[in-house]
Amino acid sequence: MKFLTILYRIRHIIFLGAIKIIKFPNPDLISGENAIEQLAERVKSDGLKKVLVVTDANLHQLGLLDSLKAALSTHNVNFAVFDDVQPNPTIENIENAYSMYTKEKCDGFIAFGGGSPMDCAKVAACRVVKPKKSVVKMRGQFTILKKLPPFYAVPTTAGTGSETTAAAVVSNPKTHEKFAIVDLNIIPHVAVLDPRLMVGLPPFITATTGMDALTHAVEASIGWHSTKYIRGFAEKATKLIFENIEEVYQNGSNLEARNNMALAAFYAGVAFTRASVGYVHAIAHNLGGLYGVPHGLANAVVLPYVLEAFGEKAYKKLAKLAVAGGLIKSYTTPKEGAEIFIQKVKDLNKNMGIPTYIKELQEKDFALLAERAAKEGNPAYPVPKILYPDDFIEILHLIKPPQE
Ligand SMILES: NC(=O)c1ccc[n+]([C@@H]2O[C@H](COP(=O)([O-])OP(=O)(O)OC[C@H]3O[C@@H](n4cnc5c(N)ncnc54)[C@H](O)[C@@H]3O)[C@@H](O)[C@H]2O)c1
Ligand SMILES: [Fe+2]
Repeated sequence: MKFLTILYRIRHIIFLGAIKIIKFPNPDLISGENAIEQLAERVKSDGLKKVLVVTDANLHQLGLLDSLKAALSTHNVNFAVFDDVQPNPTIENIENAYSMYTKEKCDGFIAFGGGSPMDCAKVAACRVVKPKKSVVKMRGQFTILKKLPPFYAVPTTAGTGSETTAAAVVSNPKTHEKFAIVDLNIIPHVAVLDPRLMVGLPPFITATTGMDALTHAVEASIGWHSTKYIRGFAEKATKLIFENIEEVYQNGSNLEARNNMALAAFYAGVAFTRASVGYVHAIAHNLGGLYGVPHGLANAVVLPYVLEAFGEKAYKKLAKLAVAGGLIKSYTTPKEGAEIFIQKVKDLNKNMGIPTYIKELQEKDFALLAERAAKEGNPAYPVPKILYPDDFIEILHLIKPPQE
């Protein structure tokens, strides 16, 4: 075993001890038919004078905010709308949301959208309590350490779980890097799950964001930081995703299936915010940073290859997840169970039109991507098997586009 591997493992064991002790807050959950109405009531009863709704232009144009605006008006809650968040939100997006918050004299946030608006709002809220700290300086763990203003999260994709996580992911267009800010204070105070908001989510985004949620559940449950409590959430999420993802892909207006996917993304978020993600995310973040590949798509493509690269180190946990996910009742060898699990991931991708490669990927970037992925993943991610830049390069070869 490499000396570095031993060091990383010592850190993982110490952190596992900490995870068992630390009290992670959970957001209050509002869900069901009149969730948006209940949200407006809650904002009113929390005594907010003016709330900043952070969203993206697409959702605004689609009219998805109409029910929220109506409910806030009915309850006499003043609001302003910032709708300029890009997919993979940038530092500039965050600064613009923050300056609107101060200009409009707001005293709370409603993050409305997929992971991009939710993360943009989270970091803008961090700027409110840390006006002297730049977004770049917030990179890393426990860099905020201050309570945020009232924060309500309304996901419109069933994917990132950002409505319950202690993480926010930011793109830095200057360095073409994505980085995470992780702090218990950025867990939203209230999460609002309304499947009706997800009905118009296009099939391909439905598929890729759902695969992001699956990746959270898988990475959380097979890593060294998974506990029984965490695996409970990851397993529930995995089962719900296996049972519902193809249905919502084919029939987006099935409200029950949409609701199940929303719950799955939330449960997977509960799991990974405690147990962390793994190398699938390390690679996906860097594909997102360098080429702008959507987060869920990158995860979906990379997931089976990273699981295969873990080999026997992941067999047992993947086999158990295959049982918990309802794929099999039992297995003769862990290898067999793991292979069934990985095949299921490949089948889902294929059935939902997700390719086996990243079309933007270029061989000239392999060394940079591998180095950045290893830097992000080691020692932060408690993965089943420690990989190094050369291993990442091998994975990148497997996901490069086929030659013309
Ligand atoms: N904070 C976390 O814990 C966490 C975890 C995973 C990923 N992320 C981050 O989240 C971001 C990705 O978020 P995402 O995958 O939810 O995508 P997104 O927020 O970027 O949205 C993708 C597209 O879908 C559209 N869309 C969203 N909801 C819709 C709806 N209901 N109907 C129609 N269109 C809709 C958006 O307008 C956008 O064009 C990335 O930056 C990623 O790194 C954060
Ligand atoms: Fe993710």
